[in-house]
Order: sequence, then C-alpha cells, then structure tokens
Amino acid sequence: MIPESFIQELLSRVDIVDVVERYVPLRKAGANYSACCPFHSEKTPSFTVSASKQFYHCFGCGAHGSAISFVMQYAGLGFIDAVEELASNMGMTVPRDAPERHAESAAKKAPLTELMARATKFYRDQLKQSPKAIDYLKGRGLSGEIASRFGMGYAPDDWQGLQQVFPNYDDQALAECGLIIVNEQGRRYDRFRDRIMFPILDQRGNVIGFGGRVIGDGEPKYLNSPETPIFEKGRELYGLSQARKSIHDADTVIVVEGYMDVVGLAQLGVENVVASLGTATTGMHVQKLLKQANRVIFCFDRDSAGDRAARRAMENSLEHLVDGKSVEILQMPGNQDPDEFIRENGKEDFQRLVGNATRLSEYLVREIRKDISLTNAEGRAQLVQEAKPLLQKVAAPVLRVQLTKEIATLAQLSQAEVEAQCGLKPLARGRPAFAPRGRVTTRPLEHTLLQVILQRPEWAVRIPLERLAEDQEETQALSVIANMVEHGQPVGGAGQMLETFRGQPCETIVAQVLSELTLEEPDLATLELVLTDAIERLRVRSVKSEIDARKKDLSPEEWRELLARKTAKTSAPE
Ligand code: CTP
Ligand code: MN
Repeated sequence: MIPESFIQELLSRVDIVDVVERYVPLRKAGANYSACCPFHSEKTPSFTVSASKQFYHCFGCGAHGSAISFVMQYAGLGFIDAVEELASNMGMTVPRDAPERHAESAAKKAPLTELMARATKFYRDQLKQSPKAIDYLKGRGLSGEIASRFGMGYAPDDWQGLQQVFPNYDDQALAECGLIIVNEQGRRYDRFRDRIMFPILDQRGNVIGFGGRVIGDGEPKYLNSPETPIFEKGRELYGLSQARKSIHDADTVIVVEGYMDVVGLAQLGVENVVASLGTATTGMHVQKLLKQANRVIFCFDRDSAGDRAARRAMENSLEHLVDGKSVEILQMPGNQDPDEFIRENGKEDFQRLVGNATRLSEYLVREIRKDISLTNAEGRAQLVQEAKPLLQKVAAPVLRVQLTKEIATLAQLSQAEVEAQCGLKPLARGRPAFAPRGRVTTRPLEHTLLQVILQRPEWAVRIPLERLAEDQEETQALSVIANMVEHGQPVGGAGQMLETFRGQPCETIVAQVLSELTLEEPDLATLELVLTDAIERLRVRSVKSEIDARKKDLSPEEWRELLARKTAKTSAPE
C-alpha cells in the first residue's frame, strides 16, 4: 500500500499540465489548455486540462481525472506504476514496506544520476587542485564554504579529463547525460573544459545538469548541459534545493537571472534565491514557486533584455495569481545585476530593494500606460484595449476587480464599462457561472453544495450536514469532505480530491461534479453567494418538511411559530 498522504503530497507537487504535455501537445485556451483527445479520435479539440483544478476532462468521450489517472490511462499503467512514474519524475521516492521493483524509468535514470554524482565529485576535487580556479572564485568574493555549499567545481583544461574517473570512457551513458560529446568522426571528448562548474540539483538533491562558466573572458560565457532524460531546462530552477529552507522561513523567494547571482547573494547572507537557468520565466516556474512561498519576487537587470524578460514574466504570471499571494517585479537600479549590487552596497541595501519591489498589478498598470497619453479620448480607449488581454488572464477574482477599477479610473469609465469592453464576467451578480445554462435545474440543493465545496473545500464546515438528504450521493461526499476539513487534513484541488475518493462509493458523483466544473474558474464572490443561498434554501426546505410531517397535529400557535421560522432570514454569514 502507498500511504494516502504520499499520494496527496505527490499531487500537490506535480503539475498536470506538465504531465499531460509530456505526451500530448497542449494549446492554451482561456484559463485552460486544450488538445485533441488522446483517448478517442476527433478532429476538433474537446480534451481540456485545467491547471487550477489539476484535472482533465474530455467533453467528447467523458474521460477525466487527475494526473495519476492520466498516466494510468495514457500509458496503460496500473495505479501503483503510475504513481511510481510520476514520483520518479519529481525526484520523489514512493514509501513502501519492502523495497520492491522500481518503475522501469526510475531504473533507467538511476545510472545517469550516478554518473553525474561521480562527475560532480571529480570537478570538486579538481577545484581544490587548481589555484587558477580558486583565485577566480576568490576574486569574485566567494568563500570556500559557499563554493562547497553549492557543490561548485572546476573542469580541468583537458579534452578527456573525465577519463580519470570513468575508465570506461566509451560508455554510451556518458554522452547520454551530456558529460561528453561524440563528434562526427566518433571522437569523444569532455563537454566542459577549463570552466567553473555549477551543478544543478533536482528536488531530491541529485545532480541532473551543469552550468560551466569560462574563467575570465571568453565565449560562450556559460555552457550548459543539454537536455537529457534527467534534465529538462524549462522546469528546473538553479539553487532551489539549497534555498528551500530559507524560502520557507522567509515565505519569500527571489528569482534572479544567473548562477553567479544566486551564489553571490548567498555569500552575503541572502539565501532565499533561485535562478531560472537562462530561460525565460515560465508559467510553470511561477506555479512551482507559488507553492513554496506566498511572495515571489522576480529580479531583472535593467537593460532592454531584462525589461523584455520582466514584461514576459508578468504576462506569464497573471494566470497563476492567487488572491492573498504576491508576485512582484524588481528591476535593478543602474546596470548592476544582483551579484554586483550586493557586493557594492551590501545586504541591507539589497533587502531594501527587495522590500520595495513593485507588485505585479502596479507593474502591469505602469506597463500599459507607459506610451499612452491619457489626456485625450483616443489614448484612454487605447489603454482599455491594451489592458484587455492582460485582464482576461488574471485568475485571482479580487485582484481582477481591483485592476479593472484602476483601469476604469484611468480611462474615465465605469468598472462595468471596462468589464463589458474586455469581455470580463462581472463578479457576484446574476446566476452562478457554473449552473448548467439553458435548461431548468432540477438538481437537488446537495448537488449545488457539492459544486461549491469541490471548489472551496474549506467551506464544507459551514454546511448544516444534518439538513442534507441522507439518500443523496452528494451528502456522503460532503460529509467526507467536511470531516477531512474539520480534522485539518489537506483536501487540495480537483485532482487531489478525486484521488481521495478513488475506490469509494461517492467517487462517481465527485467525478461527475468535477467534470461539470471543468471550464469554471472559481470566483469567490459568486461562490459565496451560491453557498449562502443554498444554506438558506436548505433551512427553508427543512422547516417545510417539518410542517408537512406535523401538519395534522399542530395547534394554531405552533402553526404560527413554524411559519414564522420559515420566513425568518438567517443572519448573514461571517
Ligand atoms: N547564460 C547562459 N549562456 C550564456 C550567457 C548566459 O546560459 N552564454 C545564462 C546563465 O544561466 C547565466 C544567466 O544566463 O547565469 C545570466 O547571464 P549573465 O547576466 O550574462 O551572467 P551573470 O550571471 O551575470 O554571470 P557573471 O556574473 O559570471 O558574468
Ligand atoms: Mn553577473
């Protein structure tokens, strides 16, 4: 048996979009991703993956489920093998009673990480023996202690240096993990020569790749490991493994552009820092980072490349914003990068910069009004046009309203006018977004409640369970969730929820409701209204049924009292 807690932990770490994308190319479609369904044949895409719900659903064939179900269905694996597969990709070990067989892929990867570990040790040993490399690092203000914390090393100036630790230099695996290059003539040589080596670790602390910097000037300045079976650049962050504790303590993570920024900041005591490995900030990075801390600060050099990167980071972050979490942009003053800045000005000045970073919402407004004159009507109209695609991406409902209001003020329009022009659903008015449209709902209140609770599990404790109809499947699911929330057990998003219910009697109803919700983005204000309304209707329903049951033997007084109870409004929810 795999413990339930591990399944939940695994699902909180994997991103279903990454998982599906490994097999099926996805296209962004609004807040979700879509593709032609891999489980039935079709020409127009009806397969939808929701990042916020960690859930997939095909409107054509009805296939649906969590990241685990996807791997099971797609790769034809059993539950345990699918969990093993996902875990090994995340660098997690599935806890078991006995060390049984590993997933095939894990077994294939193990030798590669072992080669990387041996190479890391070799480079570290070489650093100790190279006055030239040591001088270079000293000259950049780095101590031996920091170099060793980051496992830094030196690749000697030798075409086959690695032969010293890999007597079997012809081993195909050495090329597979990117340590050696085989040229067209079949000649083999070390990829990294005469470079300072920065090992890149995965979540478990295995070395999965390297960055190598020339000593002094030279091209290319950095040479990186290629993509290999164990190293996918777009998803890794340099320094995360070392920074994890301090990110947690500070509840803040600073994202910089370079390896040297990470080690340079750590040298001067700023440790909650990671680097995005020279690639642009992806939505995946944002999502991963928001899981580690409530505050994420992207630091960019103040040059044109840095400015473009900042704008891109903003655009890629919008859809991952969550109310209550903060994404910020820090544009370095002057033309110093964080490493240069902290060496010249010290830790406190750097922390001050971090403290004054610009909130993403403020940065967004600043960006769109940058080249626009608001003194004339054309300019104000243009502002709304520029804002439109960005506002549409903002997933956090409260933040979106705030931004909309701000744009409205600048454009001299009302909030409703901006919402209309940008095609935004106004919050908290009209029918709940997720009620089935165009037909009369005959669904019981329990169903509505389950729709709300699957989007906001923590509200389950507000439901008067004793008033729910016992024979409804929804009731059972609601009780289970309320019970979990009461006991402080993590409930998680849709995907996690589905795994919680796997094999239980109410699995079907939970899956059905989750499928209904696939396209809905939770909208707090509307959900709150629906919940209070449903609770009120439950109250009326139960008084009504009490009246029905006692109709015959009521005295006139009791009648009056019951009727009064039926019409009395309950007090507003907190
Ligand atoms: N980078 C890269 N290849 C290059 C140049 C840069 O992969 N040829 C990536 C590296 O991850 C590097 C980051 O982009 O750390 C930032 O590059 P840059 O600002 O040029 O380097 P610094 O980190 O400032 O390095 P240094 O201080 O050593 O010059
Ligand atoms: Mn630098």
